[in-house]
Amino acid sequence: MASLAPCPTPPSSEVDTWAAWSRDDLLHQRVLTLHRRHAFKCALETGTWKGHTTVALAQVFPTVYTIEIDDERFEANQARLASYPNVTALHGPSPQVMLKLIDHLEYPLFVFLDAHWEADWPLRDELKILLSVRRPKLILIHDFKVPGRDFGYDRYGEQECSLEYIGDLLPHDECRYTFNSHAAPHSERRGALFIEHLMEPDAVSP
Ligand SMILES: C[S@@+](CC[C@H](N)C(=O)[O-])C[C@H]1O[C@@H](n2cnc3c(N)ncnc32)[C@H](O)[C@@H]1O
Repeated sequence: MASLAPCPTPPSSEVDTWAAWSRDDLLHQRVLTLHRRHAFKCALETGTWKGHTTVALAQVFPTVYTIEIDDERFEANQARLASYPNVTALHGPSPQVMLKLIDHLEYPLFVFLDAHWEADWPLRDELKILLSVRRPKLILIHDFKVPGRDFGYDRYGEQECSLEYIGDLLPHDECRYTFNSHAAPHSERRGALFIEHLMEPDAVSP
């Protein structure tokens, strides 16, 4: 069973740039609680950036895959992530990489969808690939519009990162949805959607 741990403390050289879960310890604690309940075998992150959340995932999940499209960012992360033998860092556009990876993932699977900032927003393609596999998984979409909260969320032009954007892809009768309700005071206060796809509510007793 996974143990509950505090948000990992960064090495002192990384304090200024530490931003796991956008500094939201409540989000981190919720992921730990979900892991304790479901005992995820594997985690997949899209959008590595500087690897802050990758490292947090590596300290919790047995196996972690992370995908980054940017050449320089991917190279810059190599040294840091080499310290975590359970992390495999992959390079390329997330949908293409996921298609190659999908048969190697283990379930129940935890997924953190956080790939954006580029001209092409891969969220819908990522979801189509993940939902095509009818095995238990929890998908956390970061920077999501949360109804009734002033949390930050992504926009691409007129398009908001919201249920309106992805709702047609979701098999509602196979999923349970929740949002984050609070954000840690000194965090970046970003919204998040949790999609439990084909998950037993309490696969593992707390
Ligand atoms: C918000 S940052 C990710 C932050 C990181 N997950 C964390 O928690 O620290 C977004 C990252 O997604 C990457 N990205 C954008 N489009 C992508 C794509 N199609 N495939 C993979 N990575 C992508 C960007 O280069 C950037 O590094």
